[in-house]
Amino acid sequence: MSSLTSTHSAEADASAKSRFAPVVSEAGTSVTDTTRPPTATSDPAGPTPDDRPRVGVVVASTRPVRIGRQIADAVVDLAVFSGVPVAPRILDLRDINLPFLDEPTPPSTGQRSLSHSQAWSQTISALDGVVFVTAEYNGGYPAPLKNAIDFLKDEWADLPGTIVSYGGAGGVSSAAQLRTVLTQLLVDLADVDPAIRVRSRHYGEDRTLLDAAEVVAASTAELLTAWGWVAQRASARAAAR
Ligand SMILES: Cc1cc2nc3c(=O)[nH]c(=O)nc-3n(C[C@H](O)[C@H](O)[C@H](O)COP(=O)(O)O)c2cc1C
Repeated sequence: MSSLTSTHSAEADASAKSRFAPVVSEAGTSVTDTTRPPTATSDPAGPTPDDRPRVGVVVASTRPVRIGRQIADAVVDLAVFSGVPVAPRILDLRDINLPFLDEPTPPSTGQRSLSHSQAWSQTISALDGVVFVTAEYNGGYPAPLKNAIDFLKDEWADLPGTIVSYGGAGGVSSAAQLRTVLTQLLVDLADVDPAIRVRSRHYGEDRTLLDAAEVVAASTAELLTAWGWVAQRASARAAAR
């Protein structure tokens, strides 16, 4: 794997360039966004444009044709346009591209001997909060997310977070499983787990979402409650740094 910084920088550079220009989504549809505030930055360990808390938005699904990134982008946009006082950073596990856990010692030892482990550790350690955006696969959450979680241990402890799931029934079974794991790792989870219902009519012929913002908007109340909780806790954590 190349370094996290380089993969994220490339994506963020593209994002920064496109912020006030036409954007091509994974669905291949172009939208012109002239209002998006300059919030998301590419380098999770890099400086934020201000002192807002850094909140990572983890994209759990890594399939070549997926809706996870569309959902995550729409969840971020909702927070930004609603004025939630955070600096969100997309952490797309497809780009981060961790191998299956290959550290020789258990993560509980705190030893991170491999460059990709060190980069992932630094990425999470630099956060003040985290939002997990997860699909539901056969009643559980995607394997790449479990792998990414298992790479680390103490990095997760006390990190304010929330779980945003999606699926035919909102992905609630996936969220429940993820909650069990994150609770064991002492992630400071919000009480509410926003569950986004995705219907077949929301998909285009290419199996991506026709309008991710519309799909996400149906869960606005829960999402803003969760974002608000994370923002408040993350702000306190950032102030204590
Ligand atoms: C392997 C697999 C298993 C799935 N299992 C479920 C499931 O248990 N519940 C559900 O609501 N949807 C399930 N789906 C449908 C997904 O919700 C849908 O494909 C969604 O687009 C997956 O998110 P992604 O596109 O980000 O990967 C499954 C999809 C896949 C690929």
